[in-house]
Amino acid sequence: MSPFLLTRTLPVDATGAALRADVLSGLTRHPKTLPPKWFYDARGSELFEEITRLPEYYPTRAEREILQARAEEIAAASGARTVIELGSGSSEKTRHLLDVLPELHSYVPVDVSESALTGAAESLLVEHPGLSVHALIADFTGGLALPGTPGPRLVVFLGGTIGNLLPEERAGFLRSVRSLLSPGDALLLGTDLVKDEETLVAAYDDAAGVTAAFNKNVLSVVNRELGADFPLDDFDHLAVWNPRDRWIEMRLRARRALNVKIRELDLVVPFEAGEELRTEVSAKFRREDVREELAAAGMRLTQWWTDSAGRFALSLATAV
Ligand code: SAH
Ligand code: TRP
Repeated sequence: MSPFLLTRTLPVDATGAALRADVLSGLTRHPKTLPPKWFYDARGSELFEEITRLPEYYPTRAEREILQARAEEIAAASGARTVIELGSGSSEKTRHLLDVLPELHSYVPVDVSESALTGAAESLLVEHPGLSVHALIADFTGGLALPGTPGPRLVVFLGGTIGNLLPEERAGFLRSVRSLLSPGDALLLGTDLVKDEETLVAAYDDAAGVTAAFNKNVLSVVNRELGADFPLDDFDHLAVWNPRDRWIEMRLRARRALNVKIRELDLVVPFEAGEELRTEVSAKFRREDVREELAAAGMRLTQWWTDSAGRFALSLATAV
């Protein structure tokens, strides 16, 4: 049996305190917002996995195609003994890489979703006997305290999740990733690419309504955790392409005027009919954007691969 460790670096009630603070500041400003990490309770993680299988949601398939085609090249370039994956979710695509790293010793998946981490670890331990898996329940935007594992290290950040951070958050995040890299270490980064509006909007507003359910799940989390009474059926899901910022905006629009009570915050939040709450952005990139943002954080883009249709990119970067 392989070693498996699960470490919670967030105190159990830090989640509660952070959720309160985020909901209070997000819902009392104009326009209203809610930050994305609260999508991923157990139900949210399940819904995201369902999104990855939707015909309209191309990023997962495109990124898997690149990983399958380039796994050997990535393995040769990195020679990693430790793979650290941020926002690892089901770790499903990462297996293509873990399978081909000859010197691999440790895998450190980092996620806020405990259910995603334990689910991923169960299958990984069967498929990779001998691999030491040290899962971290942690917020990748906070300072990460990583376990002492052997180098070289490959930090992996897939799924285009970097696009869910706002530009200033991204800059800070990339600097913190840079600080994890020693000479010989590398970053493997997945970014969705700018493309036609129709393809982008469909990927975030699927016909079966799974993305709508995922978006509304953030309201269920607030209802459950903070004793709120958001009526889910009175909100519509919207995905809007914002060409100026080059991101998809996920919004929830109130169908009618309503007052939402949030018991634990002793707060009543009024919504006008048609008022929109922004829940998430998903930024899309061009090669130059990625190169510049990496450079600004002290990293050099050394490899750039796309899928055959040019929809999604994987970048390899090293510290400068
Ligand atoms: N890497 C997977 C999952 C992407 S979905 C893939 O490519 O399919 C984004 C993942 O990041 C989810 O599993 C979510 O729980 C996690 N996540 C989101 N915000 C996070 C944060 N601030 N800290 C740690 N994990 C986070
Ligand atoms: N990282 C994913 C992305 O930006 C997350 C995601 C997919 C998402 N579909 C969503 C987030 C719908 C919110 C709503 O593509």
